[in-house]
Amino acid sequence: MTGPDDRPTPHLVVDADLLAANVAAMAGFAAERGLALRPHAKTHKSPDVARLQLDAGAVGLTVATVAEAEVFAAAGCPDLFVAYPLWVDAAKGARLRDLAASATVSVGVDSVEGARALAAQLPGASVLVEVDSGQHRSGVLPTEAGPLAESAARTGLDVRGVFTFPGHSYAPGAPVDVAAAEAAALRTAAGSLAQHGIEPVVVSGGSTPSAAAADADVLTELRPGVYVFGDAQQWELGTVDPAAIALSCVATVVSHAGGNLVLDSGSKALGADRAAWATGYGRLLDHPDARVTQLSEHHAVVAWPDQELPQVGGRLRVVPNHVCNAVNLADELVVVRGGETIGVWPVAARGANT
Ligand SMILES: Cc1ncc(COP(=O)(O)O)c(C=O)c1O
Repeated sequence: MTGPDDRPTPHLVVDADLLAANVAAMAGFAAERGLALRPHAKTHKSPDVARLQLDAGAVGLTVATVAEAEVFAAAGCPDLFVAYPLWVDAAKGARLRDLAASATVSVGVDSVEGARALAAQLPGASVLVEVDSGQHRSGVLPTEAGPLAESAARTGLDVRGVFTFPGHSYAPGAPVDVAAAEAAALRTAAGSLAQHGIEPVVVSGGSTPSAAAADADVLTELRPGVYVFGDAQQWELGTVDPAAIALSCVATVVSHAGGNLVLDSGSKALGADRAAWATGYGRLLDHPDARVTQLSEHHAVVAWPDQELPQVGGRLRVVPNHVCNAVNLADELVVVRGGETIGVWPVAARGANT
């Protein structure tokens, strides 16, 4: 295999040893607490990474779309949860029926209409009721979980339990309190199901920032995704050690215009995410005091901490703010160990958004 410096930039590089360590650490954490681990595969979109997670004990994968489920089922993953309130029309129903022939599939529901549409296409489908634990995105109130579960069961669906995504953990200082809110919401929701005659078997939560504080007395399952690579958001939240960040974007210094450092890793390589609290559009893996301060499609302007800028033509490793979006912009992940390229993994579920 060639060395990574032979490839045109920008490209995404994954450190095989750090990746393996992240996979093992989350698997060990979940096992110690008696939690099933169902990593979200939207982060890596890679059957090769999924295989590592499943080999380390993951019970299955979480996906966001039917198209992602199709990619991972075709790659041999036997158990998939579409953690999304799908609207299942005839075309999606046909795809779900095909999927169900090769994998165990469960789906999120958060409305009676959604449950009815799913039941019409896939009678007896396994579902989890989605609950809003404070992010205010999708999901019913925890107290409404039981009534919805009862309606879903009446349409013939197999209601297996409840799930939430505590996405408001993405704020400085928030993860511990948000994990408590997640547990409270899931406890109420599970109780609500029981009051309506449905015993919840699965109580599923988890985001990467809140995973370490997940309440194993309430949850049965964790669904973190970003942990597998880490990114600049986790670095800034303090929820992933920068030394554990396994993915970076190799970029070339293309300009010193105006005394600035300019790289070729623009928003079409890094993604354009920038949370209100983020200190920039990305970080430099080997230069913690540098910040990507300006981003256009093919330019990343970097505030450099020293007088002397790295030379034009040199290469630097940029950590995207939100790794899931950066991966979705790449065709492949270049896998390295000790400076040598040991593999190239296709981002097989890239753009699998339907
Ligand atoms: C429903 C759901 N579950 C799990 C996750 C994984 O969380 P994270 O991206 O923090 O690892 C996400 C992320 O967006 C999600 O939307």
